[in-house]
Amino acid sequence: MVSPKFLALLEAEDLKDKVVLDVGCGAGRLTFLIASRCRSVTGIDRDTTAIVQARRRAAAERIGNAVFSVADAEAVEYDSFAPQLIAAHLCMSDAIIARCGRALAPGECLVFVAFHVDQWRETGRPSRFAYDEARLASVLRENGFVPEHLEVEREVTRFGTVQDGLAAAAGLEDKWKADGRWPGYVEFLERGGRSLTRSRLIVKARRR
Ligand SMILES: C[S@@+](CC[C@H](N)C(=O)[O-])C[C@H]1O[C@@H](n2cnc3c(N)ncnc32)[C@H](O)[C@@H]1O
Repeated sequence: MVSPKFLALLEAEDLKDKVVLDVGCGAGRLTFLIASRCRSVTGIDRDTTAIVQARRRAAAERIGNAVFSVADAEAVEYDSFAPQLIAAHLCMSDAIIARCGRALAPGECLVFVAFHVDQWRETGRPSRFAYDEARLASVLRENGFVPEHLEVEREVTRFGTVQDGLAAAAGLEDKWKADGRWPGYVEFLERGGRSLTRSRLIVKARRR
């Protein structure tokens, strides 16, 4: 689900006449929400399959102001997309912030949701994209941004048994088995752990 607080931060920027870039767009979940509110939006992602899905949806729903491009967001520069606002939902890194800083003009905005270091802390493995508040604020400042909004949205699910703990992670098991998080979570449950944390940073920063 895309956080309503994040969408409110985007909408406060009066997107109507804006050219927007959505970094790490996946199949376009956020891109299509933005498309209905802005002049035009480009979604970039390195996952070709996701970009094909996004293009199919744009064609099926006749959404003419959303285009999608396969690109490594940590390798390309963003100037060619001429963004007046950059958004990102769960795809953020120092390299991406640096590129946003170079592409946006003074006064323009970067609005995003990033994984917080507490996301799935029970697995013992923070995401390589995860930030804590202080580090994120400092990376933003180093790249020419003034953080205007930096808030943690956290949801801790608590349960009574190992079985309930496994059920709470239903849908994540295959992913966690693939990325190596699963054994850490099972060990946490076996040691008596009874929680599962989702934690994200909701951020708006303006180019100085
Ligand atoms: C958690 S998904 C979020 C997708 C989408 N923003 C959404 O909310 O549905 C993270 C996305 O970032 C993309 N991604 C990660 N690193 C990337 C990179 N260096 N360049 C482009 N895309 C990247 C992944 O392929 C994936 O689609």
